[in-house]
Amino acid sequence: MAVNKKILVTGASSGIGLALCEFLINNSFSVIAIGRDESKVAHLKEHYNSDSFSFESLDLNNFENYNSFFDKHLNNLKFDGFVHCAGMEETLPLSLYTPERMHSIFNINVFSGVELLRYFSKKKYSNDRASVVFISSVMGELGQPGKIGYCATKSAILGVVKSAALELSKRKFRINAVSPGVVNTPMTQKLFESLDDINVNRIKEMHPLGIGEVDDVIPIITFLLSDTSKWITGQNLIVDGGYSIQ
Ligand SMILES: NC(=O)c1ccc[n+]([C@@H]2O[C@H](COP(=O)([O-])OP(=O)(O)OC[C@H]3O[C@@H](n4cnc5c(N)ncnc54)[C@H](OP(=O)(O)O)[C@@H]3O)[C@@H](O)[C@H]2O)c1
Repeated sequence: MAVNKKILVTGASSGIGLALCEFLINNSFSVIAIGRDESKVAHLKEHYNSDSFSFESLDLNNFENYNSFFDKHLNNLKFDGFVHCAGMEETLPLSLYTPERMHSIFNINVFSGVELLRYFSKKKYSNDRASVVFISSVMGELGQPGKIGYCATKSAILGVVKSAALELSKRKFRINAVSPGVVNTPMTQKLFESLDDINVNRIKEMHPLGIGEVDDVIPIITFLLSDTSKWITGQNLIVDGGYSIQ
């Protein structure tokens, strides 16, 4: 894998995004990370200098701050990659959905990613042949009761990926999605805490190879960031321990 590439990672303070940052830093990438809670990356800030790891505490719902974020990181090293890991999950019956509620989950799961991509795709911020990875979910192609908002956002990402891949191919950008099944992260721990043991076991049993760990997903993302995947674009790579083949 090439070294010294500059990668933007959202959701960098937890779960998949945090594990990705750790992998990238340890493999000589320069990581510009976005999350909200800076205390969760204190260990990284302590061990690595700002050339390797720079963290911005940014609520991605505040779209008006994106311009200054990109300008702050405008230097002789342009971005080569962007991974949108930031996201939220919720379980809510249709009867409780309002347009505001739908808007709120779309804001972070989809709209923030599209707006970041809009800035990222400007020539002054990124190099040609950049690679972009959106974290969708198996729920982008499957349904589940109580998951209308979450499933809708993850399906929307798949549409964004295909259209953006075509539109940005003029710069030889590659835009792909990774769709995990249930992975052991703080998001999943929170979900499991809200369920009884029977339902937790049901979810685990729906994964023929068991639920995943972040280490099962990171290699797929880094493969898409690398030049090894230079002819892959507009695709959705499912990594789910067999969940979706049933
Ligand atoms: N875990 C799974 O089983 C699973 C399965 C399929 C897909 N996914 C997807 O994978 C992605 C990462 O999931 P995860 O399990 O790693 O989740 P996680 O541990 O809950 O981490 C979510 C990340 O998103 C950030 N975030 C949330 N709202 C934000 C906002 N308004 N502004 C800025 N950052 C915000 C959080 O920042 P703070 O920590 O600072 O709040 C955190 O870094 C999500 O898109 C999720 O839907 C996860």
